[in-house]
Amino acid sequence: MRIILTLGLLLFFQVQAASPGAIHASEGMVVSRSALASTAGVEIMKSGGNAIDAAVATGFALAVTYPSAGNLGGGGFAVIQLQDGTVVTLDHRETAPGHASRDMYLDKDGTVIQGLSRQSHASSGVPGTVDGLLTLLEKYGTKTRREVMATAIRLAREGFPLSRDMTEQFAGVLGFMQDHPTSHKVFSNNGQAYREGDLWKQPDLADTLEIIAEKGRDGFYNGRIAELIVAEMQRGNGLISLQDLTNYRSVWREPVHGTYRGYDIWGMPPPSSGGVLVVEMLNMLEPHDLAGMGWGSAAAVHVLIESERRAYADRSEYLGDPDYYPVPVSKLIAKDYARQRFSDFRADQASNSATITPGKWSEESIETTHFSTMDAAGNAVALTTTLNSSFGNRIVVTGAGFLLNNEMDDFSIRENTANQYGLLGREANSIEAGKRMLSSMSPTIVSREGKPYLITGSPGGSTIITTVLQVIVNVIDHKMGIEDAVALPRFHHQWQPDGVIYDPFAISPDTLAILGKMGHKGFRNFPFGGGLGDANSILVKEGELLGMKDPRNEGLAVGY
Ligand code: DON
Repeated sequence: MRIILTLGLLLFFQVQAASPGAIHASEGMVVSRSALASTAGVEIMKSGGNAIDAAVATGFALAVTYPSAGNLGGGGFAVIQLQDGTVVTLDHRETAPGHASRDMYLDKDGTVIQGLSRQSHASSGVPGTVDGLLTLLEKYGTKTRREVMATAIRLAREGFPLSRDMTEQFAGVLGFMQDHPTSHKVFSNNGQAYREGDLWKQPDLADTLEIIAEKGRDGFYNGRIAELIVAEMQRGNGLISLQDLTNYRSVWREPVHGTYRGYDIWGMPPPSSGGVLVVEMLNMLEPHDLAGMGWGSAAAVHVLIESERRAYADRSEYLGDPDYYPVPVSKLIAKDYARQRFSDFRADQASNSATITPGKWSEESIETTHFSTMDAAGNAVALTTTLNSSFGNRIVVTGAGFLLNNEMDDFSIRENTANQYGLLGREANSIEAGKRMLSSMSPTIVSREGKPYLITGSPGGSTIITTVLQVIVNVIDHKMGIEDAVALPRFHHQWQPDGVIYDPFAISPDTLAILGKMGHKGFRNFPFGGGLGDANSILVKEGELLGMKDPRNEGLAVGY
């Protein structure tokens, strides 16, 4: 109703946005990939909870309603601005199991064993989501576990009708689940593909959520569920032990902070590369008049690509888990460093990143999910969570009803060997027991005078960072409304492989020709789903919360 009304108003007043309308609200807003999960978050705020309660409720609900990326068996990152202006971040990324080792995905000749880091029990890191969501709730929430988990439990127990999008996702993955009978059972209707409108119930997951609601982190990391995870590991040579689960802890980390044209940029620090790269690229872009060049012009696309090329090269060398490797964060986000790093930029010519053999783009399906919440008091949460690949390693823990991640593939499994996203890495991101694998997830809050202005983030593996960059540049440089800033087509370059992927219509044929003449190469359309990223965002404008669901995919902005 609200959407229809908003669209109607847009047409009536002939507002210039080319994209579907944002949802306007004053009291609270949740924007996520699942309408049911957004509603769960908003209901908690309506009953007196804050944006952190809403984020936890949305996170648990996504584990039920959006299983390809919402999860209990994965991990994520949260960037939070509190109503007093303080910004904190919670790293609940998976860790490498205690028995993990540097060459664990290589055979005795040092060759990568195909599939082991992505499609096996041994591809799973120790899950961080449950500890992360409960830690957020304990520290900054106001509601009980039972209250924030009630909707998730109900949706798992009583079921919900599957959308076409979900049935298509399930159909796409069932073939890969033939070797995992438990997974096949969960995602099929007695062996047959689910159809749109079918009621989908998850009794084992409902039981697991009940145990967590009752016992807290102990309900997942110790006792029955932990034993079921370890039993699942033993079925397929996985590494996660009871000790690994008991030891898991999420970590509060200092946010990455930068400035851009007078705005504060707050991002996720390592083990995510997101915050560092977004700030590094914005620093490179700041001296350039992007607004004057115009959105989509060859000049603007060129300068963005060149900043991306340099930042991603730095990522492969310097970024990893700061508890295991001295990541030079302050150096990489310094304005001076960006000026020097960009000093060889030429406005008329592409630079050359061909000194290292390009990796290959993976055609494997990918899935992560980002959601944003905000309340009237001014608390805001940007949270990105994932199992890595779509449906993780596609292995459901027998008896516990949730999927496991295949996040170990985000490590550099061998020097200069591309991961699923074509990303390269070296020592900084090598495998070590207990270490966190480098991520691109970039939950971000842009603030002005100590108050949240833009809350954003995205899925998309390596393309997350450039998606977030473009949303920020669209809002700050091009002065777009949140509708166009989120919806307009995007492009991506990551140094290696040396090419540009882009949404249909992101680059016009004559712009392509100009960029080609400058020396840019390897242009191709993005091969997956709705397009590059899914940047579910909130913009605060004149005291109003504008929630924008990325129209590339299903989901909803819900506000009140
Ligand atoms: O942490 C990372 O960078 C990846 N595991 C994220 C995966 C992802 O975004 C897949 N998405 N669509």
